[in-house]
Amino acid sequence: MKNRIFSGMRPTGKLHIGNYFGALENWVKLQDEFECVYSVVDIHALTTVTGNETKTINANIREMVLDWLAVGIDPEKSIVFIQSQVPEVMTLHSLLSMITPMGWLLRVPTFKEKVRQMDETEESVNYGLVGYPVLQTADIILYKANVVPVGEDQVPHIELAREIVRRFNNLFGNTFPEPQPRLTEARLIKGLDGQQKMSKSLNNHIDISTPNEETVKKLRTAFTDPQRIKRNIPGRPKMCNVYSLHQLFGSNNLKVINKECSTAERGCVECKIELGENINSFLQEIRERRISLEKQPKLIEEILADGKNKAKKIAQNTINEVYEKMGLS
Ligand code: TRP
Ligand code: SF4
Repeated sequence: MKNRIFSGMRPTGKLHIGNYFGALENWVKLQDEFECVYSVVDIHALTTVTGNETKTINANIREMVLDWLAVGIDPEKSIVFIQSQVPEVMTLHSLLSMITPMGWLLRVPTFKEKVRQMDETEESVNYGLVGYPVLQTADIILYKANVVPVGEDQVPHIELAREIVRRFNNLFGNTFPEPQPRLTEARLIKGLDGQQKMSKSLNNHIDISTPNEETVKKLRTAFTDPQRIKRNIPGRPKMCNVYSLHQLFGSNNLKVINKECSTAERGCVECKIELGENINSFLQEIRERRISLEKQPKLIEEILADGKNKAKKIAQNTINEVYEKMGLS
């Protein structure tokens, strides 16, 4: 049997090129080697999205799934589904929470960070957030996945999943494989501000689906080598965010850019225009596919319904087995 992959993404809406190089590109490649299960984790989103805001989740799911399909996530090869449509995950989450010590959860670095970001305390924060990695564990092991492609920041969650699995297997008999993290090649994509990681909330991003003209326009505001305050001052490509984007988008004249920049033959304005053109041609097919998919909302619904059915079959088998092992009827 092929090894099985599980990965999930919170429904944040349209994805940007940082999401593409940070995860999606890898997800697409893995489809050839593994049986892949890709989930839109909308219940996880509820740990931070609340009240009226939850009404935006559905639209965000559709936008994100459009991006997934446009970049080449193939529903013929992979299971693509929405987490909440297979509620067995919540059953498993609840059962796993009975064998997970609080201490393990309070120690998770992402928990402490989230509490700080949300301006809460460990006392006031919702109980769901504490259990976030338990729900994530339930995601993975409900499908008995062996491999989980994630970024560096998620490694503590996978470690925790492995500990929960070991404990479950010890207490109730061997049931789940210990999932292995598979690190996405560290390609931290900086935002156009050149300071921080590309992210929607910092508005320093270019979406996969940003139209061509807007892509070029957005780049005009991008930071470059901070030393290059005048056209005739030579630049240092290593210190330039635009240059690192050139590297990602496979400009075939990196050497030329390097030389022209460091001799001030090339100005940043032209350099950015060239980058915009490269990004646009790199994304052309993806963007065209997305536009054509947008016109077929029924197709998206069918794909998600099919994914749900396939996921549900696996999930029900696992839940039956867990019930039996834990002595439930
Ligand atoms: N916590 C992950 C993130 O924020 C999303 C996620 C939820 C996930 N369930 C998962 C990732 C299962 C991998 C496997 O990126
Ligand atoms: Fe960066 Fe290009 Fe300007 Fe050099 S010329 S500093 S690589 S934008």
